[in-house]
Amino acid sequence: MVQKHIHHGKSSRKHLDTEEVLSKIGLLRGDIFLDAGCGDGYFSIAASSKVEDSGKIYAIDIYKDSINHLKNEIQNNSIINIEPIVADITTKIPLPDESVDKCLMANVMHGFDKEQELDNVMSEISRVIKSGGNFFVVEFKKIKGTPGPPLDVRLNGTDIKDIVINYGFSFESSHNVGKYHLLVKFLRK
Ligand SMILES: C[S@@+](CC[C@H](N)C(=O)[O-])C[C@H]1O[C@@H](n2cnc3c(N)ncnc32)[C@H](O)[C@@H]1O
Repeated sequence: MVQKHIHHGKSSRKHLDTEEVLSKIGLLRGDIFLDAGCGDGYFSIAASSKVEDSGKIYAIDIYKDSINHLKNEIQNNSIINIEPIVADITTKIPLPDESVDKCLMANVMHGFDKEQELDNVMSEISRVIKSGGNFFVVEFKKIKGTPGPPLDVRLNGTDIKDIVINYGFSFESSHNVGKYHLLVKFLRK
């Protein structure tokens, strides 16, 4: 059996301020939010109080240990609106068509690009986001130095735009977040 390569990567928790990122995302009460490749889920935990009990957060990662870590945090904080899911989003996102208002993919896209898995992933992202919804990509800026992945696998704003606009999205805006990251916002047409 061929073992699937999983690009784990580190949590960006140390380098990003959830409030700064979530303020750019503009979550509203009742929103359905997808944290795609959520890792330890620290964005999902912070988003939980923004969408309130009428909203819902789907936190998806392929790595069971990360999802188990998130499950513990959910239990310890008595959170009821996050659904942690183990899934491989290069195969299928286990959500219905047009069921998500806002989706964040933080520090994951470069890994799919490197492994040439982006076409499946982006088709699935496009399928689950509602028309009029938003997709947010956060990546380490394509500049030399640590922290972050090797320079040659990093994506700049133009790379991200050139990828995402092929999947039914239009570019909305680009922002620096924290010292090292770029956030790019798209609209699902
Ligand atoms: C660099 S971490 C980023 C985690 C989190 N978004 C953050 O910013 O801290 C990349 C995450 O993508 C997940 N991942 C990699 N391949 C995946 C796949 N095929 N399906 C779902 N998640 C995947 C990894 O398990 C890892 O948690």
